[in-house]
Amino acid sequence: MDAHDWHRQATTPAPTWPDPVSSTDFVGLSGEGREDYLCRLRVAMNATIVVSKPMEAVAAHLDDIVTTNRLRPPGAMPMIAVTAPFSAGKSTLLKHWGFGVYRGVLGGKAKEERPTWSPQPGVIADWVPVVYVTLMASSSIKEINALILLYLGYPPEGLARTTTTRVLHALRMHGVQVVILDDAHMLRTTSAQGRAVLDYIKFLNTELGEVNKGTVILVGAHLESTAILDDPQIRARLTTMTIDAFQITTIEKKAAWQDLLAMVGNRPLQHLPNAAPDLFVAKLAQHIWRRTQGFVGEATRLVARSVLDAVHDRRSVITHDDLDSVDLSDRSLDGQIDAATASRKTRR
Ligand SMILES: Nc1ncnc2c1ncn2[C@@H]1O[C@H](COP(=O)(O)OP(=O)(O)O)[C@@H](O)[C@H]1O
Ligand SMILES: [Mg+2]
Repeated sequence: MDAHDWHRQATTPAPTWPDPVSSTDFVGLSGEGREDYLCRLRVAMNATIVVSKPMEAVAAHLDDIVTTNRLRPPGAMPMIAVTAPFSAGKSTLLKHWGFGVYRGVLGGKAKEERPTWSPQPGVIADWVPVVYVTLMASSSIKEINALILLYLGYPPEGLARTTTTRVLHALRMHGVQVVILDDAHMLRTTSAQGRAVLDYIKFLNTELGEVNKGTVILVGAHLESTAILDDPQIRARLTTMTIDAFQITTIEKKAAWQDLLAMVGNRPLQHLPNAAPDLFVAKLAQHIWRRTQGFVGEATRLVARSVLDAVHDRRSVITHDDLDSVDLSDRSLDGQIDAATASRKTRR
């Protein structure tokens, strides 16, 4: 992804949901009408991002740090790390949040196809308040620089030292306020080269703070067990935030899970007008947890697919078997096996 892709994604409105169709009206639709309705429903459901309460809290905390940094005198700013298990929704959240920051900074200019600004008198440059790059396995300084340069539309070649100078110049020219380094667990942090990468991250943070009072955000899986968060200088200025999968081990946690299922399921349920309103929140809550292990993305997918199947078959009931017929990630298979074992145990 580069700055243009980011701009497009940040400024494209979410697809609109079709109006719900009752099962009687559904029967009356032509084959083409049904296809069209189902297609629009599928598009809308798959594009929906569910901002759970924990995600909302992380987003508010991010806002707070980034905004406060902008009010500080130039210099090394507090950094942020967002860590969570694989597939917990880190990238989804950071992009969703970053799009909002991006639109906020650009204001009316967000509507332009290619927003520009003037970093200094007589100079016009693309305006790119947010840089978002995804690191690759064992990323070195040169590779991180290459990713940032490519994102900003520059040729990525050159020695590490030269590209670092070009990156710093580009951050200034394009008014970068936030640099998001996604999949930061990929940073090379062991060996002598690893040390240099960590020093580089600190340097990048200091420079971004000096030129634009900007913030570096490290996003990654299980960052707490990587060398990044052990570095004393990084730790000293780092705030770590975590997003975890939902659990159902206590009454409070169950209630939060049901809250999430309401967020995930209420809109799709409007498309099953005869279904029980508490279908997901009460009847299927535990089974959905078993299949998804409490991961928001998986829960969203499971609800969407099962509702689409039900609309397609003109059913207003979704059963455990219907949920089980939806394919999810391999991780959820573990949940399915657990669920099968559990239901066998209960039957006995
Ligand atoms: N809040 C959410 N709402 C809807 N789908 C989500 C949400 N969070 C994650 N997903 C989906 O779950 C999957 C994994 O999310 P992703 O953000 O890539 O996780 P991570 O970066 O933590 O590995 C993606 O398919 C994504 O679309
Ligand atoms: Mg990710």
